[in-house]
Amino acid sequence: MCGIFGCTLKKGNAAPVIHAALKRLEYRGYDSVGEATILDGKLYVKKDRGKIDAVHELHDLDDLPGSIGIGHTRWATHGAPLQVNAHPHVDCGGRIAVIHNGIIENFADLRLELQNRGHVLKSKTDTEVIPHLIEDYLNKSHGLADAVLEAVKRLEGSYSIAAISTKEPDKIVCARNESPLVIGVAEEALYCASDVPALLPLTNKTVTVDNGELLTLSPQGFEIKKIRDSSVVTKKPKVSDWSPEMAVKGGYPHFMLKEIHEQPTTLRNTLRVQEHYLDLMATFLERAQEVYLMACGTSYHACLAASYMFSKLAFLGTHPVIASECVEQQGKSMGIDSTILAVSQSGETTDTLGAVMYARDRAATVLALTNVVDSTLTRISRVYVVQQSGPEIGVAATKTFTSQLSVLAQLALRVAKKRGKVSQDEMDYLADKLTELPDAVEAVIQTQDEKVRQIAKKYRDAKAFLFLGRGISTATAYEGGLKLMEIAYVPAIAFPAGESKHGPIGLVEPGFPVVFICPKDETHKTVIGNIMEMKARGGSIIALMEEGDEEIKKLADDYVEVPKGIGDVLSPILFVVPLQLLAYHMAVEKGYDPDMPRNLAKSVTVK
Ligand code: F6R
Repeated sequence: MCGIFGCTLKKGNAAPVIHAALKRLEYRGYDSVGEATILDGKLYVKKDRGKIDAVHELHDLDDLPGSIGIGHTRWATHGAPLQVNAHPHVDCGGRIAVIHNGIIENFADLRLELQNRGHVLKSKTDTEVIPHLIEDYLNKSHGLADAVLEAVKRLEGSYSIAAISTKEPDKIVCARNESPLVIGVAEEALYCASDVPALLPLTNKTVTVDNGELLTLSPQGFEIKKIRDSSVVTKKPKVSDWSPEMAVKGGYPHFMLKEIHEQPTTLRNTLRVQEHYLDLMATFLERAQEVYLMACGTSYHACLAASYMFSKLAFLGTHPVIASECVEQQGKSMGIDSTILAVSQSGETTDTLGAVMYARDRAATVLALTNVVDSTLTRISRVYVVQQSGPEIGVAATKTFTSQLSVLAQLALRVAKKRGKVSQDEMDYLADKLTELPDAVEAVIQTQDEKVRQIAKKYRDAKAFLFLGRGISTATAYEGGLKLMEIAYVPAIAFPAGESKHGPIGLVEPGFPVVFICPKDETHKTVIGNIMEMKARGGSIIALMEEGDEEIKKLADDYVEVPKGIGDVLSPILFVVPLQLLAYHMAVEKGYDPDMPRNLAKSVTVK
């Protein structure tokens, strides 16, 4: 996730306006920043790694001439946060500047093609191919809008881009596919931006650009065309009544809810993680003598789920380990034959880094999955994959958890393929299910949110909750319990359902809420047995189940339904969503701020 902004002013300098807007977009990404403007046929660019204030102090971002320009605040996906990788990117002739939010999947092919035609690309980003493609079309005497149109037809993936060129210095041309883009309309200016918050102090009149549309901002106004057939689309500005605070949260009352709702998009992004590194990682795992999956908190729950994925798909046994326990529990057994897969959203969690360093010192191979390029974890691992979730501001991990699961499932599939453990048909089946997941998650959020809110209301005063699941749903149960505990401060005990009769069942008395995770997999029948045990003691059963599962429905006091037919190793991605919503609504019901739970930090950098 990055932030993009552009403006064309009737009078005055664009640079300070861009700088101020980028500050409002900084929450979307903050590892590098850059601006480009045009005056008298010359393109001016300033960019560097670092937060906006630091870059401004070094380079004076307000000191660029001209009344038209674009700016970008970056959350690195392809290429480390370095000056050369910061946006805007320019073409060979230094006449075109482009900013981009999204991921270009076919950038490696395009890069090769451009290099073969003599283009010189300097960065490691996927974005840089875009100005060079535009350059080729401009050289074929297309106008800027047509050149951008032709260029984006070559792109596969997600993008929201803005381009300026000295050839038509009074225009900004933008295009959108999946990544957000809005226009701001004012008397004296036109703007484009990733989202409404960037625009609000400038104007409250906005127009949303939709997928597959090309936008031109010029002194004549704005024009939107369909990329597919160049047909003109007519749209009128709407007046936004969002306050700046609401706008930053995309209209949601809290970041956590916004991030829960972002999951269909972030899950789609995980289908575009860098294949090459995923494959390399799978090769290491396939050859490993023993594999440790290491993490803390929610990331540990992703590891736990992954251990079922590796076992079920690739027939590979792994040890999920809580990082803070790793040295004592497994330390002496780690060595040159050990492969560690460390999972950390932030890439900075001290316990995870400590365990990784320990394993490295014992000559183990370290692989990593993280959300932050250039985090410490990426620097101390042999191979890493970035999960592309964008910044997560709510302290409770939500969208980053489901993204971790999606990447780990893809990894398990690749290992399975290398080990010859799955047929092509099974591979294709699961790959299809992975692509169906974003829509299924969307359906859960759209159809079940209100139901979950009612459940939160009903059980608002419960003193404790029990979360139970079998098989891979054990990880879902743990995650549901952790979410409820950390933001609603309700004691939550999570167990594998089979273990419940070895202790936790002692808690259950009439009305005690027991949440069961019940996908229709091979655990279904046994879970029904566990539900019966709890019911016999008066427990109130809250069941998460697949649509139309009449057996479970009959037993449940309350139930939440998710779309049926998502493969069993993928079920945590779907079933955890109502649990995130439950924790969220419980916190709100109880009057707590879910974004800032007491005593917790987003990144835990102490032992
Ligand atoms: C829970 C949560 C924490 C983190 C844990 C690890 O919602 O966010 O439990 O999962 O602190 O953080 P990372 O993944 O950054 O290593």
